Amino acid sequence: MAKKLIVGNWKMHPATLADAKKLFDAVKRKVTGVRNAEVAIAPPALFLGVLTERYKGKTIAFCGQDAFFEQEGAYTGEVSPEQLKSVGVRYCIIGHSERRALGEGDETVNRKLRSVMARGLTPILCVGESERDDDGAYLSFVSAQIRRGLVDVPLAEVKNIIIAYEPVWAIGKSAESAMKPRDMHEMKLYIYKLLVERYGESVAKRVRILYGGSVEGSNASAILTESAVDGFLVGHASLSAESFAQIARSISKTR
Ligand code: 13P
Repeated sequence: MAKKLIVGNWKMHPATLADAKKLFDAVKRKVTGVRNAEVAIAPPALFLGVLTERYKGKTIAFCGQDAFFEQEGAYTGEVSPEQLKSVGVRYCIIGHSERRALGEGDETVNRKLRSVMARGLTPILCVGESERDDDGAYLSFVSAQIRRGLVDVPLAEVKNIIIAYEPVWAIGKSAESAMKPRDMHEMKLYIYKLLVERYGESVAKRVRILYGGSVEGSNASAILTESAVDGFLVGHASLSAESFAQIARSISKTR
């Protein structure tokens, strides 16, 4: 089984390049020595090149927050998988709920996912419902997002995909509002079963399933041990080097 993964999604933070360098240096210091976990940072695209140039170590991998579905061309404002790759990026978040809220649909998400894979980057496909209902409609919602997100991905490549389950209602809150570990366990099994049905057990076993939504130092351990997720996609807590490192340490202690 691959190592557990922690990805810090900085979103549109920090405000300046100088602050981004400072934050990155602090994260680097704090996560040195974290074993048994892969650590990745997803800074704003604008800062990626500078940070990858500056960092020659191996402990931290770089992750894009999004990528366009074409590799080059007249697409003002977009960033291509090829460009991300050329500055040393390894992972790329695709279909984050904050992008979906701006109008990105499953079809675009799927095109982006395939485009990122075509350049050898590892996509982190984000899925998650906005609210929970008693009848379980949220389950079919998540299953449809996964199914549509993975359209036309060759079977042999599915194992390289990472799925981040990020329920929208749990994002940007405090640890108390994060998903309960038992509920996350249920979601992990649900997603796993879905993958087994579609792609078989040997493939499903290799797809890492992350949780995201108000993960902080105080709840990371409980979610990890009780839900058996393969890691975290961390938002606000990744803007504090200490909180982020605390979560990374919880991962490295849970095997
Ligand atoms: P928060 O950790 O701030 O809830 O954000 C989660 C997220 O959206 C990561 O992609």
